[in-house]
Amino acid sequence: MTSVNLTTTYLGMKLANPLVVSASPLGRNIDTLQQLVEAGASAVVLPSLFEEQIEHDSYEVHSALEYGSESYAEHAGGFLPEMDSYNTGPDSYLEHVSRVQNELSVPVMASLNGDSKGGWTSYARMIQDAGAAALELNVYFVAANIDETGQEVESRYLELVEAVRETISIPLAVKVGPYFSSMGNMALRLADAGADGLVLFNRFYQPDIDLENLEVTPNVQLSRSSEMRLPLRWIAILKGRIDASLAATSGVHEPRDVLKLLLAGADVAMMASTLLRHGPPRLTSILTGVTEWLEEHEYESVEQMKGSMSQASTPDPAAFERSNYMESLITYSTPHF
Ligand SMILES: Cc1cc2nc3c(=O)[nH]c(=O)nc-3n(C[C@H](O)[C@H](O)[C@H](O)COP(=O)(O)O)c2cc1C
Repeated sequence: MTSVNLTTTYLGMKLANPLVVSASPLGRNIDTLQQLVEAGASAVVLPSLFEEQIEHDSYEVHSALEYGSESYAEHAGGFLPEMDSYNTGPDSYLEHVSRVQNELSVPVMASLNGDSKGGWTSYARMIQDAGAAALELNVYFVAANIDETGQEVESRYLELVEAVRETISIPLAVKVGPYFSSMGNMALRLADAGADGLVLFNRFYQPDIDLENLEVTPNVQLSRSSEMRLPLRWIAILKGRIDASLAATSGVHEPRDVLKLLLAGADVAMMASTLLRHGPPRLTSILTGVTEWLEEHEYESVEQMKGSMSQASTPDPAAFERSNYMESLITYSTPHF
């Protein structure tokens, strides 16, 4: 039993520690979720209910989901649970939300995933009624229409957040990618539009080309630790500047990733890839590693360290901006061949 107080507040909810299970196939199965909670997860995000699942017939969606789960080749030998009460249709999603929330002892966040305002957003209310502790809205949008301006794209996000905000009273987190001209200003406006928290960042799955079959393949690759540097920077810049909780997602694999993100100002660190690769015991070892570091460095609580190296707190704020770029390039030591 540690003397360090690991609790953190996210979306107004007091959580036992900052480790949260990110939206992924892990959330399809109640036994797996139970194991993750026993391993130490303080909250879970369920896999998304997609706009397409609500708006279209579920057949194609089912095939796409099945395809996705087989396609990450790297996954062989990893941890992929059987589907449980989770299914592809909206009704079974709602049943899953209510079953999971009844059976787990931690807050369960449901996830809606889409990119346009429409009838599907009424599912936010049904998710709330099904008992979700909070809703994560994943605005997964690839701005491929070259006639649409940046301003129009931003309005699309804000209108969607406003529409969902109007329908629910539970906390709302908004998960977005990093590709805005002014990420900080967008974060500010997402909070103004009603987001209680931001989940930074969506990893956009990049299509590949299969050279043998000349096909475009949508295979999902699990992340690496180095990917946490992108949320690290933006969380450090945003900490204390916007009225919203901050969750880090992408590249959280090791205790040190969690510690750095907390120092930058994250309220929670979310994990998918490392848990898919190693299963629930990984969560315990990360929690143990985080706790030991805090003890060794004589922190009394997670709250005490949170944001202590954010841009506003660090003696070297420029380190998060361009000025450090020149220095890091100049000081790069050239290899001798
Ligand atoms: C197989 C797989 C399925 C995922 N499904 C969802 C999803 O349904 N909704 C969502 O918002 N994010 C989904 N994600 C993204 C994760 O929640 C997470 O944001 C991303 O993988 C980065 O975190 P990581 O580096 O810990 O994997 C999925 C990721 C993977 C690998």
